[in-house]
Amino acid sequence: MITAVVYSESGGTFKTTTTANLAVALERMDLDVCVIDLDPQEGNLTSLFDVGEFRSDPDADNIVKHILEMPDGPFEDIIETSEEGVDVVPSHDMLGDFTSNLEQKIDYETGMKNMSREEFPRYELLYDLLWDKEQLHERYDAILIDPNARAEDLLYNAIYAMRTLVAPVKPAGKGNLSLGGLEELVTNMEQHLDIEVGLSCVVPSGVGQTNAHQQYTKQFENNEYYPTPVSIPNRESLMDTMWEARGSAFKVLEERWKTFEQDGEMVSEPGQRGVRDRELETARDLYSLAAFIATETFDIDVDTELVLEIDGYGEERFDVGDTEREVTA
Ligand SMILES: Nc1ncnc2c1ncn2[C@@H]1O[C@H](COP(=O)(O)OP(=O)(O)O)[C@@H](O)[C@H]1O
Ligand SMILES: [Mg+2]
Repeated sequence: MITAVVYSESGGTFKTTTTANLAVALERMDLDVCVIDLDPQEGNLTSLFDVGEFRSDPDADNIVKHILEMPDGPFEDIIETSEEGVDVVPSHDMLGDFTSNLEQKIDYETGMKNMSREEFPRYELLYDLLWDKEQLHERYDAILIDPNARAEDLLYNAIYAMRTLVAPVKPAGKGNLSLGGLEELVTNMEQHLDIEVGLSCVVPSGVGQTNAHQQYTKQFENNEYYPTPVSIPNRESLMDTMWEARGSAFKVLEERWKTFEQDGEMVSEPGQRGVRDRELETARDLYSLAAFIATETFDIDVDTELVLEIDGYGEERFDVGDTEREVTA
């Protein structure tokens, strides 16, 4: 089974975009995929996939209530299926107060059980929920988590439950720092919780044509410690349009979504986007990233042929079976 947290330290490193595209790529490889959105902020995966209608309703059942063992109903009922077939456990505003809610639970339970606060397994709650209680390994081939980078308890719960990281990084000075932070986080986590955390791969993303970007990206690609199976170039137009199409880059390309100005207003419509080789190559790279994670990290055989059925244009096929690094710019 594939289990991964898509994480790197700073915000805006394309975590949500990467998670969404990976999830859809794995789903297109015929795997049953579930994504758990632990980020309560705007512009999260829940809004990208157009789910989570009740995310602001405090009375609605949600992932926090399940993690804290106070669900209103079955876990099944909070799972929604996106248009592209990926199951999503949507975000909820309660995620923003996770730590204070957790502290209350710890107060209560340590009081009842005559246990010290330090003994309470605060990072193991998501693990217990997903694997012991809900047995999600029987239902899914892949679970990905898009975490909230700032909330330690949630992030640690995510890493404790998944054990593997996929790290998108920006090819800037900050990107290198976040790689250092990543190593530190992995080591801390391993020591702290007595588990092994694996780094599946690092994905330089948003790589521009400038010298600095190219140099930083080379540094990532030449490192001896982590695989960098693909680098994703700067594809702002394609990726930003995902938010209008409410789906993956594959959907944007197949349905040809485009954002443009009309009578002084920005509109987004399907059937409008030109078919560009460089964008098709990015779809291929995203697919090849998913294939790398499935085969190289988790030893799962997948169909590596990407077939894009592009509206009014025809079919494009790419075989990404050879997961050798390919870089497009
Ligand atoms: N490869 C890319 N090149 C340029 N812009 C991108 C790329 N991938 C994503 N983006 C854009 O960057 C912004 C932030 O991405 P997002 O995935 O939400 O980051 P995070 O989840 O890490 O905060 C979004 O507007 C997204 O469309
Ligand atoms: Mg995000």
